[in-house]
Order: sequence, then C-alpha cells, then structure tokens
Amino acid sequence: MLSNLQQQPADALLALIKLFDADPRADKIDLGVGVYRTGQGDTPVFGAIKAAERKLVAEQDSKAYLGPEGDMGFVTALMPYIFGKASPDMGGRIEGMQTPGGTGSLRLALAMVKRAGYSRVIVGKPSWPNHNQICADLGLAVSEFNHAGADGKPDMDAIRAAVAGAAEGDCILLHGCCHNPTGIDYSNAQWDEIAGLIAEAKLLPIIDLAYQGLGLGMEEDAYGLRRVLVAVPEALIAYSCDKNFGLYRDRVGALYAMVSDPTELGRIMSNGHNLARASWSQPPDHGAAAVRLVLEDETLTAQWLDELDQMRDRMRQVRAILAAAGKVGGVDLAPVGGQNGLFSIIPFTPDQVQEMRSRHGIYFAGSGRINVAGLTTANIQNFIDATAEVTGV
Ligand code: LMR
Repeated sequence: MLSNLQQQPADALLALIKLFDADPRADKIDLGVGVYRTGQGDTPVFGAIKAAERKLVAEQDSKAYLGPEGDMGFVTALMPYIFGKASPDMGGRIEGMQTPGGTGSLRLALAMVKRAGYSRVIVGKPSWPNHNQICADLGLAVSEFNHAGADGKPDMDAIRAAVAGAAEGDCILLHGCCHNPTGIDYSNAQWDEIAGLIAEAKLLPIIDLAYQGLGLGMEEDAYGLRRVLVAVPEALIAYSCDKNFGLYRDRVGALYAMVSDPTELGRIMSNGHNLARASWSQPPDHGAAAVRLVLEDETLTAQWLDELDQMRDRMRQVRAILAAAGKVGGVDLAPVGGQNGLFSIIPFTPDQVQEMRSRHGIYFAGSGRINVAGLTTANIQNFIDATAEVTGV
C-alpha cells in the first residue's frame, strides 16, 4: 500500500539550501531562505538569547511536560509587544498558546477555521508558498487577489474587490508586516481602510506576523495588526520568533485568538490544544523558554531590542545601496529602497534566475525573491553587476 504514495517535489525554497551548499564556488551568494545575515554573512545566535540560554541551563530543574499549550510565561510575555502595552489581552479577549514556529501556528489557525466551518481563505498573491500549501493540505479553498500593482505599491483596488466579493464562510490571511515575498507593506492609512473593509464584510482575519521588528520597528510593525483587531470581533494571529529572536531551527512561535466574548476563549482555545495534541502533542521548550527569560529580564530585553535595531539598520543600508544603483540591465532596483524586511522581488525571468545561479553562483527563489540580508559590502557589487549582465539586452 505504501507504494501508492507518489513522489512529492522537494520544497523549492528549502531545496535552495542544499543547492547552495553543493556549489563549490568560493564567491557564491546565498539570497535564498529567509535568515538574517550580518555584514560578514553570518547568522549568529543573538547575544541576549545566548545569555538567556546560559541561565536556562543553569536554572532549569526539570524538563517534564508542560502540556499542549507549552510555556504560557513565554506566550504572555510576548503579548505587550504584539498587542500593545496598554491592554495586552484587550480586556480578557485574547489568549494564546505556544506552537512550533510560525508554521505550527498557521497550521493550527487554519485547522481551527476549517473545524469552525470556514471553507475559503482569501490571500494576496504572491504569498509565502507555505500559506497555500497548508490550505491545500487542509482542504481549504484559496481565493487570490493581487497583492501589489505594477507600480510596486499595494494594489488597493484588488483587495477592495476581493473583500467585496467575499462570501459567508470566508476568512482573509494577511501579512502583518515585511510582506513575504515582496517586501511591499500597507501604509498605516491603507491598514485603516483594510480594517474597515474586513469589519464591514464580517470576514475573519488571520494575521501572520513573522517579522515583527525587522521592518520599521517593533511598534510600527504591529500597527496593521492592532488596527484590524480594534475593528473586528474575532481574529487569529500566527506569530513567529524565528527571525526577530534568531531562533529559526528551535521553532518558536505562538497562536493567539481574539474573541468578542471572553467567556468563549477557553472553549475556542481548547480546539487549538486538541489539534496540537493530535499533531505534535506539545511544542519544543528550549527556544520559547529562552525568549521568556529575555523578556523577564530588563537588561536582556534591552540587549535584544538593540540587536534587533542593528539588524534592521543593516537591512536598510543594503536596501539603500540597491536603490541607489537604480536601473541595472533590464531591471530597476530603486523600489527595493522603500520595501521592508528580509525580502524583495526583482523581476528576473525564470531563465535569468537559472543564469544567476549557473553563471554567477547567486541563489534565490524562482519567483525572483531575494533575501536582502544575504548581501554584504563584500558581495553586493557582484550581485548588482551580475544582475546587470543577466538582465541586460
Ligand atoms: C522564508 O520564507 O524563507 C522563511 O519563512 C523560511 C521558510 O520556512 O520558508
């Protein structure tokens, strides 16, 4: 019977890691999967996390199970950063649970909406490929609208039309900040409008916040999420600490539900617990415990925020250099300067993507998505020159 299973393609994004590793060229450049890199091309463990890990090893006296909700100290400590210090649980209307990374959180959110009777997810195109993949695996239909127009700005007409055409039983999946893969975020005024549109259409928002602090700042990057939450009665929030705490392989995330009636929270979250039990039972502890220790300690919190500021500043500098290069070959790099987070899409054709890999050893997604953090003072000119050569006529 197992022979009935068909060969599945490797995940195109994750396959890039192996392709890059197998390339023997010393000057190869990795602009593939979304990990932050320093100006030296490294992805170090945050200093604040290292300190918290030392403390954890010294002080943790048991590794006994915590339950499907994981480390609730971690879940609660994050809330003021996500939902605002003034009312982190919005008057008892928000509760969360720990998940294995942002993907675990999205998986639970989408499984919960499926169980609740939703049948279709409205999502901007392009999106992070795993969004569609999880929906497909759960049997949720996906309805796509253009995220951005040819002018490189969010396509507001497209989202207006998508929301206007929504039916009962639809939810909408939005990137809270640092849109993956385009880097094109909504302005505050656009979020204001979107919040109103969603509320009016009575759509359930699912907000994926995987890059808080890597766009404009921790508070700034939460604007859209908070704006939507004050407008609607219910929402699900999928949060990742993989990037903003640099904990990628430790898989640290959280799922939050906001409801209108606090007395319903326990029942609604029991579905998250039950789905988690049937999937991974309980989330891995180490990374989340380290985040909790950072957030419980003022000095470590300040150190973490400072490290995050440095990451954001470096990515801004890279973006400024690309933007200053302007038109190179057949593409314009200027829009990259105004985009946010790790990613931007350069309009390479599929052949040009292959040529960048084969001729220049520069690896990025087939969509033309580059991870700007992979560019350093040592390699950025090579990238610009290769882009000019490959896309030039
Ligand atoms: C990415 O988009 O590169 C990251 O979110 C990593 C991943 O899991 O795809």
